[in-house]
Amino acid sequence: MKSVIVSMIAAAGLMVAGSAFANDALLKKGNCMGCHKMEGKLVGPGFKEVSAKYKGDAGAAAKLETKIAKGGAGVWGTMPMPAMNNVKPEDIKAMTAYILSLAK
Ligand code: HEC
Repeated sequence: MKSVIVSMIAAAGLMVAGSAFANDALLKKGNCMGCHKMEGKLVGPGFKEVSAKYKGDAGAAAKLETKIAKGGAGVWGTMPMPAMNNVKPEDIKAMTAYILSLAK
């Protein structure tokens, strides 16, 4: 019984690691990493900082999905974020959920 529980925990851990990996790949594929780092400012804000800023904001996902799709400026500085209209809406949803999950 104990070994079953241990292997279930191990499998759950792998699933979490697997989805983080998939989301990292999405951010690379969407060319986000040319302007963003996971942590610290590049052209745009670090994704961990974005996550911390919107922690506890129930409307954050919708706001950020629109921002990624349509672009915009003025939240982090004067440098605009371009509209990422080459990225599929379902990928934008997955990226946003992942970014918002980064702040612990
Ligand atoms: C050409 C550079 C560039 C690229 C490419 C880029 N970003 Fe950005 N991003 C920015 C800048 C600059 C800002 C800050 C905008 C502001 O201050 O309102 C930003 C802001 C953001 C924010 C925070 C928005 C807010 O209103 O707080 C998120 C989330 C984000 N980007 C996600 C992404 C994702 C996901 C991708 C890839 C699909 C991406 N970015 C690609 C430059 C870029």
